[in-house]
Order: sequence, then structure tokens, then C-alpha cells
Amino acid sequence: MRIVVTGGAGFIGSHICDFLLHRNDSVVCIDDLSTGNLANISDLLSNRWFRFVRADVSAGLEVHGRVDAVAHFASPASPPDYLRRPLETLAVGSRGTENALRLADRSGARFVLASTSEVYGDPVEHPQREGYWGNVNPVGPRSVYDEAKRYAEAVTMAYHRHRGVNTGILRIFNTYGPRMRPEDGRVVSSFITQALNGQALTIYGDGTQTRSFCYVDDLVRGVVSMIDSDEVGPINLGCPDERTVAELAELVLKLTGSHSVVQYYPLPTDDPTRRRPDITLATARLGWCPEVSTEEGLQRTSAWFRCQDTRAAAAALVGGQLDGQSPPRLSEISWSDPVVGPQGQQRSRPAADVGDPTIQDDCGAHRPALQGEFTTTAVTTSGSTCLAD
Ligand SMILES: NC(=O)c1ccc[n+]([C@@H]2O[C@H](COP(=O)([O-])OP(=O)(O)OC[C@H]3O[C@@H](n4cnc5c(N)ncnc54)[C@H](O)[C@@H]3O)[C@@H](O)[C@H]2O)c1
Repeated sequence: MRIVVTGGAGFIGSHICDFLLHRNDSVVCIDDLSTGNLANISDLLSNRWFRFVRADVSAGLEVHGRVDAVAHFASPASPPDYLRRPLETLAVGSRGTENALRLADRSGARFVLASTSEVYGDPVEHPQREGYWGNVNPVGPRSVYDEAKRYAEAVTMAYHRHRGVNTGILRIFNTYGPRMRPEDGRVVSSFITQALNGQALTIYGDGTQTRSFCYVDDLVRGVVSMIDSDEVGPINLGCPDERTVAELAELVLKLTGSHSVVQYYPLPTDDPTRRRPDITLATARLGWCPEVSTEEGLQRTSAWFRCQDTRAAAAALVGGQLDGQSPPRLSEISWSDPVVGPQGQQRSRPAADVGDPTIQDDCGAHRPALQGEFTTTAVTTSGSTCLAD
């Protein structure tokens, strides 16, 4: 298949690109690098089945040649990012989604929207099922993200009902793993960065608010199953293993062997108090459930963070990040000219053309994969432990 991934240079998007290329799809990654990082896809740039186009999808989205699927993942996702870029966040959720839908419509392609558990707001139903309509403050600071995604869902359903586009909506819950930016202000990356640098772990509120954390490899399996299906959704993807933020802090301290202390700050406006997905639908319709335990996922993520230089990020995290006034990203790189792929190509990739799969070690170096080692290619959950069991 030839698949367009918007936001493909971001944290989740880059893992999706990896997965699709490993199973022999051809990928067109479109990203404006506003919150993404070219380093996330640097290993892919020489792959002839991968094209990177640096572009703002809110301004328009033109891809020549056959397109079989559009996975729309472009959007700031961490609170500091979307609070710092409120208008861009609304634009990419609205105009960006419309442009991606128009591309799918023109191409007769499958369309998958990366929506979010934030559409449930501060939920009064627990755990959150897809039938729950949510409890969102439409004028609070976080509304730029929450309402943009709610609009994105609405316009996706309108294209489905009125234009017959083969659409699917995923509601993604907190996801973590390698390639998160250490300074992005999300709870897992912040705790690990602070723990590894011996700095106090920042808890907003009293730490009793809950989240459930899905390891990125698990999430990507679910995303790709959705791309391959005709499910309309919305379907929740997330890990039902609910933890308080204080428990998470303790776990990170244990796994990193850190002696950092914990510091408490006031809870930001409209911060949800409880979050846990009901994934019955994902299991029934996509045969999906997460397999990587929170402990294992945090271990893998900490190992990756140990290989990054997180000192400056740790310093920037001191004193809180969630007010939208945080310092600019520390990993800004001055990017060279965009790499734009040749257009109008239609390909089905021959298996013989696939290079040997490689495995990235904890510090990003590549080595040949041993047989069966590339776990993210497995779409089946049989024989493994489902965390929802
Ligand atoms: N990470 C999570 O826990 C989570 C949870 C729920 C939903 N999601 C959704 O998944 C998607 C990816 O999230 P992520 O965590 O990887 O965030 P991310 O910030 O790492 O990735 C988003 C990517 O989109 C790109 N982008 C933003 N605006 C763009 C535009 N106008 N044009 C082109 N590219 C643009 C960014 O440069 C970045 O590479 C988002 O849509 C987000 O809402 C993520």
C-alpha cells in the first residue's frame, strides 16, 4: 500500500512510518516539523520507499499518484505545545483534517484520524467508553486541542456520511516511549528526564489524579490494524492499567534508581482527574489489546532517554511547564531544505526489494535483527499476554 502519514516526523507518527516500511508499505510522510523532529525519521530518509515532504497540512495537502490510506496524525499533542500554539492547533484540527479528508476522498483512500481521549474532557463516566459524549470546557485554555479534535471527529463523520469516504476514528489515550521530547512537558518524559538528572519530579495537584499509559509499540499495532480495517469507530486505543500520577513517579524513581524527591505544583485548569479507556471495542473489532506492561515500557523508555542529552531539558522543566509560557523547545535544529519526493509514483513493493530488517539498540544504533526480534511487525495478539485480561 502507499500510505500518507501526516505528522510522520513526530513521536507516534515516526513509529508508524517505521512499522509500515517494515511490512513493505510505501510511505509519504508530511510534517512541518513544528513539534516533530527530523532525527525521528533520519534513518528513513535514504529508504526509497519513504518520502518526506516538509509542509503545513493546514495550508493544503497535495499528493500525486496513488494513495491507499491517509493516517492523519499532524497536531501538537502535549499541553505545553498546544498552549503555545493555540491557533495552529485549531487550524490543524479543522482545516488540516479537512485537507486530509479531501485527499482521501479524491484518492478513494482509507482515512484514519488520530483523535484523543481529550474529547472526553474531565470525564464523569469511568472508564471511558466510546458512547460517552464527554465533559469538555469549550472556552478553557485546553479547548484549543479538545475542541479541535472534536471538530475533527465531526468533519470526519460528515465525509463518511455525505461523501462515502472510508473513514476511521481512533481515540488515543496517553502514549509514551522512545522519541518523546524530554522537554515536551508530558508526565512520563518529564518524570524520566527529571529522575535521570537528579532533579525533583514535578507533580501537578496532589498526585491522586489517574492516567493509563500505553507503550508506543502497542499503540502502533492498533493504529495499523485500524488502517487495514473498514471500522468507522470511534475506537479507543489505550492501556487500561490505571495508575495515579504519584504511583507513576514512584515507579520511575525505582526503575531509574534515582534519589530525586517529588515536588507538588497547583493543578492546571481543566486537568482531568481520571482517565482509563474501555478497550472492549478495540479488542472485539481490531483484535487489539496492549501487551507491554507499564513497568516494561517505562524501562525501555528510560533506557532510550539515558542515551539522550537531557540536561538542558531537565533544567527547563524546573518550575512547571503547563501554562503555555514555557521556554522554546531545546532541541530546535536549523533544518535544511525540505526533502520532497518525486511525485506521481505508483508502486506495489516487491518483497525481494526489502532490505534486511534492523533493530535500533537503546541508544539508536542499528544492527541486523535476529529472527523474530522485530516485535512491532506482529499484528496478532495470540499467544501473548493481553493487559486487559
Ligand atoms: N502522544 C499521545 O499520548 C497522544 C494521545 C492522544 C492523541 N494523540 C494524537 O496523536 C498525534 C501525534 O501525537 P504525538 O504525541 O506524536 O505528537 P508530536 O507533537 O510528537 O507529533 C505531531 C507531529 O505533527 C506535526 N505537525 C503539527 N502540526 C502540523 C501541521 N500543521 N502540518 C504538518 N505537520 C504538523 C509536528 O511537527 C509533529 O511532527 C496527534 O494528532 C495527537 O493529537 C497523541
